Parts: sequence; C-alpha cells; structure tokens
Amino acid sequence: MTESKFEPDDNDGNANAGMRKGLTSYGDRGFSLFLRKAFIKGAGYTDAALDRPVIGIASTGSAYNPCHGNAPQLIEAVKRGVMLAGGLPMEFPTISVHESFAAPTSMYLRNLMAMDTEEMVRAQPMDAVVLIGGCDKTVPAQLMGAASAGLPAIQLITGSMLTGSHRGERVGACTDCRRYWARYRTGEIDAEETADVNNQLVASVGTCSVMGTASTMACIAEALGMTVPGGASPPAVTADRIRIAEQTGAQAVRIARERLTIDKVLTPAAFENAMRVLLAIGGSTNGIVHLAAIAGRMGLEIDLHALDRMGRETPVLLDLKPSGQHYMEDFHAAGGMATLLRELRPLLHLDALTVTGRTLGEEIEAAGPGFAQDVVRPVAQPIYPQGGIAVLWGNLAPGGAIIKQSAAEPVLMEHEGRAVVFENAEDLARRIDSDELDVTPHDVLVLKNIGPKGAPGMPEAGYLPIPRKLARAGVKDMVRISDGRMSGTAFGTIVLHVTPESAIGGPLAYVRSGDRIRLSVANREISLLVTDEELARRAKESPVVEPTAGRGYRKLFLQTVTQADKGVDFDFLRAPDTTGKVPR
Ligand code: FES
Repeated sequence: MTESKFEPDDNDGNANAGMRKGLTSYGDRGFSLFLRKAFIKGAGYTDAALDRPVIGIASTGSAYNPCHGNAPQLIEAVKRGVMLAGGLPMEFPTISVHESFAAPTSMYLRNLMAMDTEEMVRAQPMDAVVLIGGCDKTVPAQLMGAASAGLPAIQLITGSMLTGSHRGERVGACTDCRRYWARYRTGEIDAEETADVNNQLVASVGTCSVMGTASTMACIAEALGMTVPGGASPPAVTADRIRIAEQTGAQAVRIARERLTIDKVLTPAAFENAMRVLLAIGGSTNGIVHLAAIAGRMGLEIDLHALDRMGRETPVLLDLKPSGQHYMEDFHAAGGMATLLRELRPLLHLDALTVTGRTLGEEIEAAGPGFAQDVVRPVAQPIYPQGGIAVLWGNLAPGGAIIKQSAAEPVLMEHEGRAVVFENAEDLARRIDSDELDVTPHDVLVLKNIGPKGAPGMPEAGYLPIPRKLARAGVKDMVRISDGRMSGTAFGTIVLHVTPESAIGGPLAYVRSGDRIRLSVANREISLLVTDEELARRAKESPVVEPTAGRGYRKLFLQTVTQADKGVDFDFLRAPDTTGKVPR
C-alpha cells in the first residue's frame, strides 16, 4: 500500500513544517493538507517540490516604489539560491511603502506594513522567510513583523541607487535634493536648472544614496545579524547585489533546517551592536525610533540615557553625506560594513549570533584584512569625536528629545533665543516665507503638532525651512525644534522627537512666540525658560484636545500609537512584557 502523502504529521512526526505548517481549519487536518496540495498542484507543483523546506519571499516590488525597482531580479536570484540549497521558494506580496508616494506619511503606514508582514508570515506555510525591503520604513516594518511572527527570517536589502551628475557635480538623493531646492527658493538657480537637476538626483532604481534612513536601516540590519555578511552596501543595480540575493536564498534554507529562529539573533547584544553602528555611521535619527519599535517587539526598551552615554564614547567614522562627503556606492567600494565593523571591533559584542549561524566576530574575521580607503576613518581620526546623535532632556522634553549633532552647526549647539512658534504644518506653510514674519537669525523656530498623533504619523517635517527672507540674506542654519522627525538626508541644528508630543498635551503645546528657549548640547539640555506655574496656567487656559478619528486605520492609529521613545509602534503590537533595557 502506498504511504499517504496527506498525513498531517511528516515521517519525523513533525506537524509544523513545510506545506503541513499552519493548516487551514476545516476540522479534519488530513483533509486540509489534501486540499492545500490539490490547489498548489493547480500551479504545476510536484510532490517532490512540495516536500522541500518552504521559504517564503516577502516581495515589496511596486510601481509606486522605485526604491524597490530591482525586486524582480532580486526575487529571481533568491529563488535560485533557495533551489540550489534544496528548498522550495514561495514568493508572496505585502504592502510596499515609498517615502514620496505615501500620504500623509510613510511612517503612518509602517505599522500597517508590519502587521501585514507578521500576519502573512504567520498565516502561510513557510519554514523561513526572506524579507525584501529597502526604502526607509520597509526594513523596520519587516523586522518588526518578523520579530513578532517568530520564524527564522533573513533580511535582503534592495540596495542604494547610483549617483548622478549635474553640470559636472556629482549628485544623489536626497541631501542634494534639499540643497538644490534651497538654492531654487533663494533664487540662486532658475527653473531650468532646477528641472535639469531633477533628472539627475535619482540616477537608477534603489534607495537614497546618502546615509539617510534607508542606508541607516541597511547597516543596522547587518549589524543586528539579520543579513548575510556584506548585505548592507551593494548598490541596487550591481552584480554584487544579485549575488547577495542568491546567498540570502541559500542561507534561508539553512536557517529553516536549523530552526534558527529570529529570537536567537535579535538579542540585547545584537541591539547594542546596532546602536553602536547607528552612532558610528552618523546614521539617521529615524534609526532610533525604528530600533525602539523592533526592540519593543522582543520585549526590550531603549534606555535613552544609556544610549546617550554610548554616544559619548562612539566616534563617527563613516564619511558619508549628510555628515560627510561620500555616497553609499563609495562605502561599498571601501569594503562596506566589514571595514566599519573591523574598526569598531573593540566596542562590539562579537559573540552575537547572526543569520549565518556564526557570530559577528567570526564574520568580521572571515572578511579578512582591510585595505587602504578613505570612506571609513580609523578610530584615531574620526569624522566627529562623539556619536552622531545626542539625547536632550529638560522641561520642554521630559521624555527626551534628540539632535543629530554631527549634522548641526557647531556655534548653534550652545544657544539661547526667542521662540517663533508655528502651531502646525499648515501654519508653517502659510507664514514661513512671509516678509511680515517677525524673525531674526538668533530666534528658535518651533513647530508643534507633527508628533505621532499630531499630523498624524510623525512626518519628516522637523527640518523646518529657513524663513525665506533670512535665507535670501545668507542664513544657512537656525535652531529648530519640533515633535516630528527629520529625513536622514537632512542637516542642521534640529531638535526632534520632543516627547511627549504637543498633540497629547506635552509642554511643547504651551510654548508661545516670544518665550526664551535654551539649547545646550554639551549639557544635553533643552529648556523652555518659563516657570512651571505659567505653563500650568497656559494648560488650564487652553487645554489640548487630542485628535480622534471615527473609523478605519486612522482610528486604530490614533487610539493605540505610542510616543517616539517606544518606537511609534501600536501599543498592542509590542511584546506583552518588558524583559530588559538596551543598551545595558
Ligand atoms: Fe526610498 Fe529614500 S525614498 S530610500
């Protein structure tokens, strides 16, 4: 008699592997498997194929996401790797989110993408999952979802775009986008040149070519041990990137066989390594929010005080825009993350396990010796002596705020000035360029209501433009404060993530034009020079009404979104218990 292929337990008595995994509930598990196999055979699969370890491939290719424009080539290479290693690749779609094609903000949709990823990884039969992400919010969303799903998972980055050339100058998104737009606003360049440079800023598919959020999250994913070695830096259109994709597919089969689940990789040591790297690369401030969200899925909280201490002893080594001068493709040519990790070795937890089954230390060793290059500096000659990001506290931000000091104007980092307040993004847009605006270069620009609930979705509007009349007079930087975020590609003396946000009644809500504000990065201080009694009086006089929504995702978002220090995740998606803090 032939052995039944529809026993819910395989020959090893394993009911939770391959096509047997997560059978649909019909009350008869044998029938569920019989039905599942009947349907998949409709696509031409044989039993031999269906008996292999199943590797899900979360595809985020989308016509609305040019940062993932190489997804078809990556998927083909991942499938090749999976099949070479004896697995069965199963591609499936999830939401894809691009920075410029998501209203009101991509951050608003990050948690939706994380839920989509988690639930589809959980619902469909797979023994491991390859997560293909790149554009800013996609990698954190996938890591958040995969962390909660708990399967073996491996991240594949789409890779950075190439740089372009504009009238002899090398350009790349999006630091140069901002620079050229600022020149257009002040009348330095005309509409024709603006149109010309618009054709050059994004020279190929792939993610932004500077150390913005996408590049930051790529480096963080590798530092967490979630990519194959060297997975962060190859540009999107290179053979190296395709080879990484093939290796990722093959490694996915190994982690499926070894049951190397994501909790074995996303440990406190891995998060500390990721924070160290974030600081050393002069990474995007958004990296902190995303790390807080991913850590929250594993029951870990980010200790901002400890992170600040870590920052004081971590130099910025990577010479990439916006803190430095190079682009991602230069970082790749300089050896990528292996070059950086080699320099950082004394500050890392070398025993942290990676998705290769080897430790980070073993991977650094395997990468071999370095070579002469000028993109990653030695620790003795850093770009910036301290970490790129400092954490600030004070009566304006009792829950903390952050500043990217490596991208700030040094003379403004110790500054006291008069507040010029904008109540929300619309108010800012209406008045910032008015010749009537009462503002001087020494003032502090304050923008309210762009926090997690305020906008909603914590838009990257913290990079307030310099008022036009000051910009025309040559002012390049001013102290700017908000409860929002800033693109990792932006620069300036900009205080962000003020917590709690103004929309829920944080002190920022009660700042008025004319108040004095003191910023001292040396003392890690952001203070409103107004008494507690006066602030309480203002709160009583004009109490804040928190935003609400009647239905749909916006209702869920406004009811459950957490503040920046908790990663702006939904409260019910975080792990139920906090088991520790990172860094320790
Ligand atoms: Fe996708 Fe910058 S817009 S990475």
